[in-house]
Amino acid sequence: MATAPIQMSVVRATGMRQVRLICGIILFAYVVSHFLNHALGNISVEAMEAGVIYHTLFWQFLPVSIVFYAAALTHMSLGIYALYQRRQFRWRAIEPLQLVLGLSIPALVMGHVIGVRLGYTLYGHEKLYPQELYLFFVVAPGVLWQMTILLLIAWVHGCIGIYFWLRLKPFFPRAAPYLLAAAVLVPTLSLLGIYQGGRSIEIESDDRDWRTQNLGRRQVGTVAENNTLDRIAGGLTMGYFGLLGLVLAARGVRAWRERRGGMIALSYGNGKTVRVPKGLSVLEASLRHNVPHASVCGGRARCSTCRIRVIGDHDALPTPSQREAFVLTRVGTADPSIRLACQLRPTSDLSFFQLFTPHMHATDGASTSAAIGQERYLVSLFVDMRGSTQLAEKRLPFDTVFIVNRFLGAVSQAVIENDGQPNQFVGDGMLALFGLSADPQTACRQALKAASGIAAHIDQLNELLSHDLRQPIRFGIGIHGGEVIIGDIGYRDHVVFTALGDAVNVAARLQDMTKTLACEAVVSEEVHHTAGLADDALPHQEVAIRGRDEPLAVRVVADARELAALVESSERVAA
Ligand code: FES
Repeated sequence: MATAPIQMSVVRATGMRQVRLICGIILFAYVVSHFLNHALGNISVEAMEAGVIYHTLFWQFLPVSIVFYAAALTHMSLGIYALYQRRQFRWRAIEPLQLVLGLSIPALVMGHVIGVRLGYTLYGHEKLYPQELYLFFVVAPGVLWQMTILLLIAWVHGCIGIYFWLRLKPFFPRAAPYLLAAAVLVPTLSLLGIYQGGRSIEIESDDRDWRTQNLGRRQVGTVAENNTLDRIAGGLTMGYFGLLGLVLAARGVRAWRERRGGMIALSYGNGKTVRVPKGLSVLEASLRHNVPHASVCGGRARCSTCRIRVIGDHDALPTPSQREAFVLTRVGTADPSIRLACQLRPTSDLSFFQLFTPHMHATDGASTSAAIGQERYLVSLFVDMRGSTQLAEKRLPFDTVFIVNRFLGAVSQAVIENDGQPNQFVGDGMLALFGLSADPQTACRQALKAASGIAAHIDQLNELLSHDLRQPIRFGIGIHGGEVIIGDIGYRDHVVFTALGDAVNVAARLQDMTKTLACEAVVSEEVHHTAGLADDALPHQEVAIRGRDEPLAVRVVADARELAALVESSERVAA
């Protein structure tokens, strides 16, 4: 039953950048497979020819072919669109370089693709390694240089894309040395393979029999056929350059119209004001004028750290796009004055505050990825003391603080005992994080055991304070897991390490819900399932969460003490 909401979320959460990334990964997989095939030239040309059979068997399998060509067309179209759409780059050198490299690939690869693939489709040519290496090393050495440049460009472009994708992942620091080694080895072996294969062909092609066997009409076609293919490749390349020219012209027209449309003033609420043309996003304006602006995901509408609060009239602002509205809803804000700076393109003067002021400047090259922000799966546990207001009413302030501190101490102890991290204390409540150094299943189990431990420690505390308390201390716990952004948040000396994201907000809401559901804990189905608890271990229920369209499946825990036993039994079953 939960499938439909999940599908809807996926659809709404998938933006243009995500589509470009998925297509890029498919193309990169092809490039890796192709380059490894070239590398077989270090063994022999025969090995290359054997490898290409498996390479084509997979990539020319019809469904794979369709996915591959669709990915290539989509990736290229989105690259062209980015050329039009991007006004400002977050990393001044690497992002424009990535775009230029990507856009040069179609022009460089056109002749090769048309000659080999279209030649096969139209005339049945069988241009494999011997024929192509003969072309590169004997007939037209200039093409060899073009192919070498293409190989390097495609590889660097792919590696930059993979780096941007993976750099915020928790495993990246550990995987980076291996990835770097692969990034250097694969193209090196590939180029060496081409060179070795080409040298062999150069020598073998002196033999008339070899030429008769490998350069017949069936393999390389006639001069007229090749002229036709060259004309097609030339026409398509010109068309592609024409398209790029049109896009550049469109950029020029837009810049002209924006200048004519006038400039607007953006005021940062701290005395700083910048003037930018209409149409720039607030984040682009910050980047253009070197104003530090939190943007962990690089303007991809994924992290919400670029959030701003608009001062004054927000009715005149453009309505949030579907993507922006989705992200804002996910972080639980229905306030129309809160907007994403990377998505908002104001058309008139605007005053605002940044909600997350970056304490690190763009020029701070020494910052670590964990401090800047890292995306990872974490389990959030919110716990809150019940009835603390009544407690305070009937006691001296010192007594209240003493009891709340004992409560938070007992809770923290249970969290630490189960390898969690007490993260934030808000009044008589606390957020604890699990999974900073554990996999999702372990993190879910740790959080559930910690909830059990909290109940046990509070029982002990109640016993200890039984003479002081009119009624025992009670509590509510909410537990939910999911992808969050972790990093240092705050201002100047008040910077704390914490987690941001939907999963954290949902855990807080589940904790609230323990009051209406009259239970000790509410655990999301996500955590229950990931921990591997038996399906009938806890009563199931669907609850409405503020800021979410779809109900959330949860498990209601009347007595949190039983959670440890349930986890242990699931661990025994798994063992
Ligand atoms: S920069 Fe991440 S959502 Fe705007």
